Amino acid sequence: MVQTDTNTGTEWRTVCALADLPVGRVHAIRCGATIVALVRGADDQVFALENTCPHRGGPLAGGKLVAGEIACPWHGFRFDPRTGAATVPTPHAPATSIPVRIAGEDVQVLVN
Ligand code: FES
Repeated sequence: MVQTDTNTGTEWRTVCALADLPVGRVHAIRCGATIVALVRGADDQVFALENTCPHRGGPLAGGKLVAGEIACPWHGFRFDPRTGAATVPTPHAPATSIPVRIAGEDVQVLVN
């Protein structure tokens, strides 16, 4: 379901329920035609990165959470799920962060 924010005109797509996202792992969630890597923090904040690793295109949504960072399954580069910043190794290109919000019980990702 896509919900339009009447104040800003932005569109948010409901991708799952917050209850469907256990803490401590990376979730591969479909958003329209693409997959995003979602992480739920201990404080119930949720973060999303585009699935494509900026190193060589590995699937970040298939990675693991290591010390709170998404580790790419192909070569182990790590990214801060809150910002997409590369943490290991540095310097390196960041992953693309996607805005996420919680609407009631739902997790929504910015569409445009
Ligand atoms: S493709 Fe992700 S670390 Fe190489």
